[in-house]
Amino acid sequence: MSVTPAYNKLNMFSKEVYQQRRQRLCELLPDSFLLFVGNAEEPFNYAGNTYSFRQDSTFLYLFGIDSPNYTATIDTATGNVTIYADDVTLDDTIWTGELPSVAVVASLVGVATTKPSSALAEDVKCVMKYRRVHYVPASRASSVQKIASILGLQTAAVNEYVSEPLIKSLVSMRSVKEQCEIDELENYMHVGYDMHVSAMKMAREGNSEQVIRSVIDYMSLRNGGHVSFPTICTVHGEILHNSPTTQVLKNGDLLLVDAGSESPLHYATDNTRTTPVGGHFSQQQREIYNIVLNANNAVAAAVRPGVFYRDMHLLAMRTIVDGLSQLGIMKGNIDDAVANGAYALFCPHGVGHMLGLDVHDMEGYGENYVGYDEEVQRSTQFGFSALRMARRLQAGFIVTDEPGIYFIPALIDKWQAEGICKDFINYEKLHTYRNFGGIRLEDDLLITPNGGRVLGQRIPINPNEVESIVCNANK
Ligand code: GLY
Ligand code: MN
Ligand code: MN
Repeated sequence: MSVTPAYNKLNMFSKEVYQQRRQRLCELLPDSFLLFVGNAEEPFNYAGNTYSFRQDSTFLYLFGIDSPNYTATIDTATGNVTIYADDVTLDDTIWTGELPSVAVVASLVGVATTKPSSALAEDVKCVMKYRRVHYVPASRASSVQKIASILGLQTAAVNEYVSEPLIKSLVSMRSVKEQCEIDELENYMHVGYDMHVSAMKMAREGNSEQVIRSVIDYMSLRNGGHVSFPTICTVHGEILHNSPTTQVLKNGDLLLVDAGSESPLHYATDNTRTTPVGGHFSQQQREIYNIVLNANNAVAAAVRPGVFYRDMHLLAMRTIVDGLSQLGIMKGNIDDAVANGAYALFCPHGVGHMLGLDVHDMEGYGENYVGYDEEVQRSTQFGFSALRMARRLQAGFIVTDEPGIYFIPALIDKWQAEGICKDFINYEKLHTYRNFGGIRLEDDLLITPNGGRVLGQRIPINPNEVESIVCNANK
């Protein structure tokens, strides 16, 4: 038999939170029929051996039910909400223990009408005769298939017919975090703090990336939360999303750790710190580190409602160009270097992204819906084009602030061979940094009515403080 529907957790906000969100959605999208497909269990290698369950973020946002095989509809014309799912059978109970009925679960999130899953296709078919069914893009193949079968579409066509009005409404709602969401994440930031300080303490010769990663991931799991994305723990920080390997750390390496944990209600932390293995930055490392830190601090000091995050990206990149110019790695007019995108040789990613129920919040809806709007369009320039979040900030947004400087040999060679930005880059000097690696420093910022602040206690970032954490752990 298959092992099905564990009702994982009763962790949720009060039912009023979900009722108010659905009510708001009804106001934003009047007279519309909305379909929401929750996630199923996904086989790891066969159906009875699954990946650990993660609910779809849209479903979590509107219904809070952290359990597989739930689907829901909202008719915004009448306000009717229906949850479709099946009660566990006695057979299931042997494997899962006793679980609350669908009706009980639905009542916890303020939904009075429940039906068995088998009723869904017929109900939707009736609506489809005279109305459009609105749904958001599904990331998982099993959900795409489910939508296809409910709507009678080819699977390849499912994501073509997604509802832009629904996406835009949800983006407008989810972008501005409610106080309960801010509290949930803020109260959980200590887990990310502990993960990173533990990694700093382990940044010593003889430890491997893999072992440090396992400790970090354990700290996430022991607090009940999965990591919010696969942990990056590497002495090759210049490889932006490098997975940990069995590589053993040596004194003088820089250990870059980009890691986060999901809170009980699945809000993601996302931080990066870069630590000198053995506890002492070389002068070269300290100089580059301080430029990245200055860029990070400049953004944190400048954010406030009304400011474009695109301009925060440019502020960080200008700080990087300024710093690298002082070291003789870059040259020429700083503003021209920024305008020409010369910084992208050193930082080919954007300064940050939205954070929330997804580590790149709402990215499944399409990056441009989340980070861009009619006021700001995505640049086509290399590096700048990778910026996920560019639009104006509002109080209640949570964004990451994650500048970095990387020395990527393959990119250096290509740019030099093609003479790219040669007026702004001193390639001769740059080659003395060829094997440097990379540094990124990432904080999570809450935009407040008058500015912004780091969520939770800031993970140690001052270079002297980071050194002393490593050194004291070595005693
Ligand atoms: N960990 C991925 C990111 O920082 O965006
Ligand atoms: Mn990160
Ligand atoms: Mn990030």
